[in-house]
Amino acid sequence: MENFIFKNPTQLIFGKGMISKITEEIPQDKKVMLTFGGGSVKRNGVYDQVCKALEKHTTIEFWGIESNPDISTLRKAIALGKKENIDYLLAVGGGSVIDGTKLVAAGLCYEGDSWELVLNPSLIKTAVPLASVLTLPATGSEMNCGGVISCRENKLKYSFASPYTFPVFSVLDPETTYSLPSHQVACGLVDTFVHVMEQYMTTINQSRIMDRWAEGILQTIVEIGPSIMKDQTQYDLMADFMLSATMGLNGFVSMGVTQDWATHMIGHELTALHGLTHGHTLAIVFPGLLRVLKKQKSDKILQYGERIWNITNGSKEEKIEETIVKTETFFRSLGLTTRLSEESIGVDTINEVEKRFNDRKVAYGENENVTGEVAKEILINTL
Ligand code: NZQ
Ligand code: ZN
Repeated sequence: MENFIFKNPTQLIFGKGMISKITEEIPQDKKVMLTFGGGSVKRNGVYDQVCKALEKHTTIEFWGIESNPDISTLRKAIALGKKENIDYLLAVGGGSVIDGTKLVAAGLCYEGDSWELVLNPSLIKTAVPLASVLTLPATGSEMNCGGVISCRENKLKYSFASPYTFPVFSVLDPETTYSLPSHQVACGLVDTFVHVMEQYMTTINQSRIMDRWAEGILQTIVEIGPSIMKDQTQYDLMADFMLSATMGLNGFVSMGVTQDWATHMIGHELTALHGLTHGHTLAIVFPGLLRVLKKQKSDKILQYGERIWNITNGSKEEKIEETIVKTETFFRSLGLTTRLSEESIGVDTINEVEKRFNDRKVAYGENENVTGEVAKEILINTL
């Protein structure tokens, strides 16, 4: 195990009816800006619950943080927050609203243009406190300090992170997820699964405890995913889904172990170029990545195959192939396509991703060997 320092300051407030608790969590003297997406919270009753909880607070509202939050929208939120002297933010929605609000929190304390903070997060020296009411289990944004911001004007999508942008608290009420479109549920299950994989699917024998925690989340998603896709209003299943998503990307499964993240970095390019939903990009890229890197990751693929899919028979090569097929089949069973060709995306995009990685001189993965060329090979494997 490598040395590490772990700290996660976010308080979780979990369960049915718990939105009412925010009354006590946000100090009365704060001027709060509530941030929202496109309106789902008005239709499912979450907005009413939040308004009731904050009826004695001073609040203003900012609407319209879109999926894959765009810098142009966030600039408007920052301008409004500065004008109104906002000193607390409450994001109400999915990962996009929370991510966007993290940038707003930092941008409110920054004189320059907030895109600079995305490109260089070390410029973030402080932030307005932010909290969240989560309505979509997937990103883990509710209990981490990262965000992913798009700039549609230039077809870019970049992640940033800062120790100042952890939510102070996040409310997770599984009942708020009952109204999700099933495509978002499927994408959330895959996002959770692949977050764990990014921190697990590297090499064996780094940490027994990290492996078992990671496998616990993977196993849970495999077990509950099909039932959730049939009926997403089963409280206990959605509670396990919500907690799995949070635990998958709050630092608990990455202590002292190497990480990959190449699937995510390639996936972000597919969203930036074609608008594909985040989790869907992962369902396409991850099986392709396993195929291309199966030699490098062979021992860990075998461990994963045995412990999650009970694959014990056959040669090493056969077991690895069966494990990759099982993974892709699982994503498909949730109703997602897993091939770029099924989305009518072809070689032009693949070449563009290669060019972007090369121009940026980046190489991802635990061995920093997923260069533009390897990313291209991975995407060709998804055609
Ligand atoms: O905008 P509204 O009307 O609220 O509708 C949203 C949106 O259309 C809808 N929705 C959310 N909760 C709902 C609901 N509809 C009905 N009932 C509910 N309870 O779902 C749609 C998608 O929402 P969005 O927030 O975009 O989805 P998600 O939570 O998957 O967030 C995706 C963004 O997070 C980033 C992604 O790249 C993407 O930009 N990520 C953030 C990470 C992080 N902060 O650590 C890590 C992830 O890997 C990911 O990259
Ligand atoms: Zn993700």
